[in-house]
This record gives sequence, structure tokens and C-alpha cells, in this order.
Amino acid sequence: MTTTNLSPIRVGLLGIGTVGTGTFNVLQRNQEEIRRRAGRSIEITMVADLDVARARAAVGEGVQVVDDARKVIANPEIDVVIELIGGYGIARALVLEAIEAGKHVVTANKALLAVHGTEIFAAAQRKGVMVAFEAAVAGGIPIIKALREGLSANSIQWIAGIINGTTNFILSEMRDKGLDFDVVLKEAQRLGYAEADPTFDIEGVDAGHKVTLMSAIAFGIPVQFDKAYVEGITALAAQDIRYAEQLGYRIKLLGITKRVANGIELRVHPSLVPAKRLIANVEGAMNAVVVQGDAVGTTLYYGKGAGSEPTASAVIADLVDIARLHTADAAQRVPHLAFQPDAMSDLPIVPMSEVVTSYYLRLNVADEAGVLAKVTGILASMGISIDAVLQREADEVGGEGATQTDLIILTHDCVEAKMNEALAQMQALPTVLAPITRIRKEELA
Ligand code: HSE
Repeated sequence: MTTTNLSPIRVGLLGIGTVGTGTFNVLQRNQEEIRRRAGRSIEITMVADLDVARARAAVGEGVQVVDDARKVIANPEIDVVIELIGGYGIARALVLEAIEAGKHVVTANKALLAVHGTEIFAAAQRKGVMVAFEAAVAGGIPIIKALREGLSANSIQWIAGIINGTTNFILSEMRDKGLDFDVVLKEAQRLGYAEADPTFDIEGVDAGHKVTLMSAIAFGIPVQFDKAYVEGITALAAQDIRYAEQLGYRIKLLGITKRVANGIELRVHPSLVPAKRLIANVEGAMNAVVVQGDAVGTTLYYGKGAGSEPTASAVIADLVDIARLHTADAAQRVPHLAFQPDAMSDLPIVPMSEVVTSYYLRLNVADEAGVLAKVTGILASMGISIDAVLQREADEVGGEGATQTDLIILTHDCVEAKMNEALAQMQALPTVLAPITRIRKEELA
């Protein structure tokens, strides 16, 4: 039997914006090669969008266009539903209804899966359908495939990723042009990189959703965004980027998940990364993920984390997987979270106060005798070891005759709770003149 004679897989698309249009166009353009890979053709036969005119303009004639997503789900001819609506509201209801109706689901919706994944994957398991989400993490980079299949021999040790293009663009511009966060954010919005409401990007929430999904797959734990530590880039100042540079580091918003003695770390925050690391040199809106496995060592994945056709590339890869496995026994398919559902781990997520890492501190202090001794004395009393100290000349910081200066300290590893206590004590010193800046440091060695 030649597999290429199988009937086409019929796909219904919910929401045809940028990614939906890209998916439709790439499927059309590469249909012959995709058919040869999938073993059958993949056809979008039905599209639902509230803006019917926009949908019709995107897909032309020959595709059924409706304004009600439930008509797609109710159509017995549809094998796969692609959900590109986003958010946790109606998208959650539609995904669960599609699963109940026995449809496979492809989604780019990281927010939905990071928050409601446990419920959605359990429903899919019960119905014997697939929920595929390559497009939900790092856009066109096949990181889900790499973690779930390519690295399945490994005990994964850690993952660190630049998984939000908007914030990476902002940090790159701040570094290149010496500008402050607010100025660059406005520029990013003008250029269309940042959403009109960029909260999820700049507060680290979008990266938090993505690292939550990678963590689940890497360690075989449930998705649990509610336990992730999430800190964005809004408090970063241009001078911190400059000082980090002088010390041989770049500042990146990293999504980090790590296997440690007391569980799994799951965190997003700005991090100093040695400038010599490849990932430190990922600029603009690009994404990159480093994965450390015990057998393979360090691997790096780089590419476009957003955009019409890069994201469509991931959506269609999922469609091809589904086309190949549609007729397979559900138990033989790749598990949603890489590990068999009855073999998941209950390793706890480590609270941020117990995370061990190193730190960059910037203290704006009175330029007078004994200040450095007091600060280092507090760190020593907490058992925190100093790696490097950089003190700017007062007039470099505040102009000629200035009486205050910046003191920059890099520490060795210590537990976050101790650093919090040391920061509280240092902040209380009358010679510390402004809120202390603390940025975590990751060597990624
Ligand atoms: N808003 C995301 C980013 C793209 O800036 O990377 C989609 O995940």
C-alpha cells in the first residue's frame, strides 16, 4: 500500500490573523512536499473568524468561512482543529469542546497550556486525540520536538532560553543605543514589535508560560505556571546594562528551569550572562534556547520566535505529525508531555527563596569613608562571598563635585533568602541613597 494514497487530513482553523494566514499560505505553497512527508495531503477546508471578510480575503474562494468556531468543531468532516485565538477564555472552552468532539488540536496558545494544560492533556488522553503545541514555545524553533524526541535519551539538567522576542529587542536597543527602558518600549511599539498592551511580554509572563511548558516536557512534571517565579525587565536601567558590559556580561531576560537537589527551579528574570556565551549574543527579536543534557552536553537552538511564517512552520510541523499518526494506536503516539501519563514525576517546584544563584548589585552610595566596608561587612556576616567590585568615580556618575557614586558588586553563589536579608540590611544604611538594584547572574557553564 502506498501511504500517499490516503485521504487528505481536513483541518479547521479558528482565528485567521497573522499566524493563521501564514499557515494557510505555507500549506498552499509547499503542499506537494508536505504531502510527500506526511503521507497524505493536509487541507484547510474550513475557517472561523469573527471578521468573515478578513478571513475570506486571506483564504480566497474554495474554503468554507464561518463566523462561529463551534460550526467548525461540529463538522464531522474536520479531523484537526487549529486554535489560533489566544488567551484562556473562549480558547479554553473551544479546545476542550474540540477534544470532546474527537478532533486533534494544534495550538500556539502558551498561556492556555501553561495554565490549563493539565486539564487539557487529561481530556485529550481520555479521548485518544493529540494536542500539539510546537508553535507555543519559541515560534519557529522546533524546541518541543527536540526536547520531547531528539533528546529523549538524556537526563535533562537545565534549560535557559531567550524566549520572548519583544523583550530581547528592547534589551538589545538599550545596550546598543544606551537608552532607557521607557524610550525603547515606545520605539518597539511604533515598529510593531511590542503589542499596544505589552504587559505579558515586559513583565515576563509570556516567557513564564513558555518555560513552564519546556519544564514539564524536560522533567516529566505537570504544567504549573502558578508556581513559576516571574520578573520582567521594567526596572532595568541603562547604566546596569553598561556596568554589566564593563564586567564582561550582557543582560538577557532568561526563562530558566533546572533540576536541583530539592526539586525543579522554574523562573524568569533578567540575568547577567557572560558576553562570551553564544546565547549572550542573540540580538533583536530573535529567540534561542540552551539545553544541557547529561549525555549530549550543551545544545543550542536559535531562530525566529514569532512572526507569520516562522510560527506557521511550527503549526504545520504539528499537522504533519498528526497526519502521520492519525491512524496509529493512541498508546503508540509520542506523549503530550514527553513522559507517559502514568509515569509523571511529582518533583516539587523550588520556591524562589531557596534558589541558589549569584548576583549583580548596584548601590548608589554616599562617597565617603567606610561605606564599602559596611556593605561588604553585611555580605560577609550573611556568608555571601564577593566575586568582584567596581566603584565608579563619583564625578563619572554624578558630574564634577558629586558626593555620591555607584558601587557595583558581583557575588558568588548564595541562597536567595540570604541575599534578601542582606539587601534589607544594606538598604537600611543611611549611606545607601537609593533603592538597590539586584540582578541575578547565570554563568551557563
Ligand atoms: N510576544 C511574543 C514575543 C511572541 O515577543 O516573543 C509570541 O510568543
